[in-house]
Amino acid sequence: MASQMTVFGTGYLGATHAACMAELGHEVLGVDIDPAKLAKLEAGEVPFYEPELEEVLRRNLANGRLRFTSSYAEAAEFADIHFIGVGTPQKKGEYAADLQYIDAVIDGLAPKLCRPTVILGKSTVPVGTAKRIGERARALAPAGEGVEVAWNPEFLREGYAVHDTLHPDRLVLGIDRTRSRRAEEVVRVIYSQLLQEGIPFLVTDLATAELVKTAANSFLATKISFINAMAEVCEAADADVTVLADAIGYDTRIGRLFLNAGIGFGGGCLPKDIRAFMARAGELGADQALTFLREVDNINMRRRTRVVELARDMVGGSLLGTRVAVLGAAFKPDSDDVRDSPALNIAGQVQLQGASVTVYDPKAIENSRKLFPTLDYAATALDACRGADLLLILTEWTEFQELDPASLHPVVRSRTVLDGRNCLDPGEWMRAGWQYRGIGRNCESGRRQHDPFEPDKFAVARSFFNTSEGKQ
Ligand code: UDX
Repeated sequence: MASQMTVFGTGYLGATHAACMAELGHEVLGVDIDPAKLAKLEAGEVPFYEPELEEVLRRNLANGRLRFTSSYAEAAEFADIHFIGVGTPQKKGEYAADLQYIDAVIDGLAPKLCRPTVILGKSTVPVGTAKRIGERARALAPAGEGVEVAWNPEFLREGYAVHDTLHPDRLVLGIDRTRSRRAEEVVRVIYSQLLQEGIPFLVTDLATAELVKTAANSFLATKISFINAMAEVCEAADADVTVLADAIGYDTRIGRLFLNAGIGFGGGCLPKDIRAFMARAGELGADQALTFLREVDNINMRRRTRVVELARDMVGGSLLGTRVAVLGAAFKPDSDDVRDSPALNIAGQVQLQGASVTVYDPKAIENSRKLFPTLDYAATALDACRGADLLLILTEWTEFQELDPASLHPVVRSRTVLDGRNCLDPGEWMRAGWQYRGIGRNCESGRRQHDPFEPDKFAVARSFFNTSEGKQ
């Protein structure tokens, strides 16, 4: 059954959600205050790189199920179901989440709500937010007690946003159980197609739903930092973290996913979400419970400095006057997102130490240039490598994994590669005469002749990391 709904916020989350809800057959109005973003979306252009999204957007603009507006009055008139998908960034100079965009939606929308309404939050928020904004919305709305706020957190991954929205591995809904079950009824209708497919649906209280999202992201961040901590130990003990990850990953209680050691996690979610979680736990008096997340954050940030140190070592002790090619700027492959990207951060640090740095990324150059205008950018991987004393692989795009090392020989000054994502086949590069170093692995040039997992070890590791089935 088709419903009418709005989606506030047309960023990563909001634009994807709006387009995917239309794809499910609903009538959707996307709402944003940014006219430039709206103009792009109305013209069928996605303002960021996300595979499949443009097709879904265009199809639903064309069939008339999806429209956009900046008018809150139009939004309130159009529907009685409103999703909130605006950003909740980290506050400047603090760990806590900045809720000004959520508050602005409520303050702008609620006074226009004259009929019974369900507001469904999707943004990642500190626990307690849904209760607070529910009270505020009811106080401001002419419909008063007829306004219900529920929380339906979003777990999508960049690069798989459409897939994750249309085929989530679970749906979570937090409702205020002291009120009616209207929000649950509404959500069951909106997602009826997904529920018929048997996707698990968990209905809970507001606080639990909010916590599910931050707990999930904290777990993922912890898993990555765990393996990066193991990488540090492996480096000290002359062991190989990639084999260690494969071996412990066969234990189904542990699982191999999210155990790729490298330069650590970045992006618009994991770093800020674990910090906001610590800040909120502190406010609630439960800060001790999350002190481990500070260590998770520390291990993660330490990766970046460690890679710069390794890079310095590999060029003979000083980066001053060297030429460094950086392949990868996005925080992960299949994305043009450079928010808190460890790759760009490392490129910047290497440059600060006196190297001349040229960056290439298949999709993220435009965004990188805005953030780091002083770095040099190349149009191809080959161009970035011209005259390089060192090659840094910092995002595991398939294009880099498929690079033929011999094709770089005519352009590089030195055959030296630091694989910050452990995504290359060391044997192949070393056989081509490269000095290879990975993260937490004992395969400097000439070492490590015997690898029991060859030849498919890397394929397995890559498929764990890249495929959507490989999701956890
Ligand atoms: C994450 C969560 O996965 C998603 O559920 C949530 O909704 C938003 O935050 P996303 O930010 O798109 O999604 O990226 P994700 O795929 O989780 O990767 C996060 C970072 O961790 C990337 O920088 C990635 O390179 C890094 N990572 C991931 C590793 O370093 N090692 C791994 O094994 C996995």
